[in-house]
Order: sequence, then C-alpha cells, then structure tokens
Amino acid sequence: MNVILLGAPGAGKGTQAVRLAEKYGIPHISTGDIFRSNIKGQTPIGIVAKSYIDKGQLVPDEVTIQIVKERLEKDDCKCGYLLDGFPRTVAQAEALDKFSKVEAVVNVDVPLNKLLKRITGRRVCAKCGESYHVDYLEGKTTCAKCGAELIQRADDNETTVSARLEVYEKQTAPLIEYYAQKGVLITVDGDGDIERVFNSICEKLG
Ligand code: AP5
Ligand code: MG
Ligand code: ZN
Repeated sequence: MNVILLGAPGAGKGTQAVRLAEKYGIPHISTGDIFRSNIKGQTPIGIVAKSYIDKGQLVPDEVTIQIVKERLEKDDCKCGYLLDGFPRTVAQAEALDKFSKVEAVVNVDVPLNKLLKRITGRRVCAKCGESYHVDYLEGKTTCAKCGAELIQRADDNETTVSARLEVYEKQTAPLIEYYAQKGVLITVDGDGDIERVFNSICEKLG
C-alpha cells in the first residue's frame, strides 16, 4: 500500500504515521525527519536544509525530490510506504507520479486555530521520534517508549510556526484538490483524540 499523509504543520501526521506504519508493516518516511538527521550529522544536505527549515520555508524541490526518489528505491518499500510530509508542492506531487503510484492520500484535517498550540507544546523523543504534548506529559521529560530524552524542535517557536502555516496554505494546501481530482483523497477529521483519529484513518484505508 502506497500511502501519503497530508496535513498542516501540527495536524498529527507524525503521530499517526508511527502507528500506521506499525499496523500495516510499511516504512514511515518523513522528509522532515530525514532533514533533521542530516542537520544533526552536518551533511551537505543538512547544511542546505537548515537554512530553509530555520525560516519555516520549504527546502528546494530538486533536493527533496531526489532524496525521496532514492529512498523509495530501497527494498523495504517494495510492499508499500507511508510518506509523511512529502509531497508538499504540486511540483513534488508531479515528480512522485513519475516514479511511483500513489494509492491513497490521507488528509488529516485540523482547524488552523488548534495548530499553533499543538506545535508550540510539542516535545519529541531525540531517539525514536515519538511526539508528545506538554499538556499530557505531567512533567515527564523522557520518552515513554524508549526512555530517551524529550526535546523541543528548533522550528517549533511561534515565529517559525507562523511562517510554516503560511507556507502550508500557499504551497501545500493545493495538493488537496490535486489528489481529489485523481480520486485518491481520503479526508479524516484530525481534531479528536489520537486513538479516534487513528481508527478513522484505518477504517477509511480498509
Ligand atoms: P516536518 O517535520 O514535516 O514538519 P511539519 O509538516 O511542519 O509537520 P509537523 O511535524 O510539525 O507536524 P505533524 O503533522 O507531524 O504533527 P505531530 O504528529 O508531531 O517538516 C519540517 C520542515 O522540513 C518544513 O518546515 C520544511 O522546511 C522541511 N520539509 C519537510 N518536508 C519537506 C518537503 N517535502 N519539501 C520541502 N521542505 C520540506 O503532532 C503535533 C503535536 O500535536 C504533538 O505535540 C502531538 O503530540 C500533538 N497531537 C497529535 N495528534 C493529536 C491529537 N489528535 N489531539 C491532540 N494532540 C495531538
Ligand atoms: Mg511531523
Ligand atoms: Zn523514544
């Protein structure tokens, strides 16, 4: 099953992707995670990516498309994949159509006014990538899954988040129409608790 998770920053793509990848036994591929690990390793891609991510802008299409193309060629994608955060522009979607067949696009729909609070309160596991929210952590500072330290992402401050939301509206939201036209769009209400959103995605994916 070749699936895309579409949604605004903070919609819950990463949170749902971890659970869906486990249930369906397909790899979770997050371009944001790939960039962050390159930034950590100070690779040439990481250095380029950081200059855009810090401003809340998109990393240029040619860089991003090449990374995803190479990733999807790996053996573990033979039985499907779950893309989280790619494509994010119409040019990326058109490129993806040339090297892979997208079967379902899940649009996780959350009202704009909820997103800022979700993102600024987010804490992520430095090791396994699980996302948490301070409202539910009860003061805990380590990951419930693997015990590693929880950190705040560098681009999760209010200024950068506003830029990310604007970029989403302009450059990524048009993909909803793009995939609706192709007849592969599934929309789920992302404004419920995590389990409920997960169940409604699974129901619609079948
Ligand atoms: P990326 O890492 O993809 O960030 P994003 O799209 O901004 O999305 P987030 O990761 O912030 O949100 P999410 O939807 O995964 O939410 P989460 O599950 O964590 O990209 C980062 C940057 O990299 C981009 O800005 C860009 O510069 C670059 N980039 C990446 N891909 C690119 C591409 N294709 N092209 C160009 N550039 C690219 O949840 C958020 C919070 O809400 C958490 O605290 C979580 O616990 C909580 N939460 C989740 N679900 C619920 C729920 N149902 N109820 C209550 N709280 C919830
Ligand atoms: Mg994410
Ligand atoms: Zn962890």
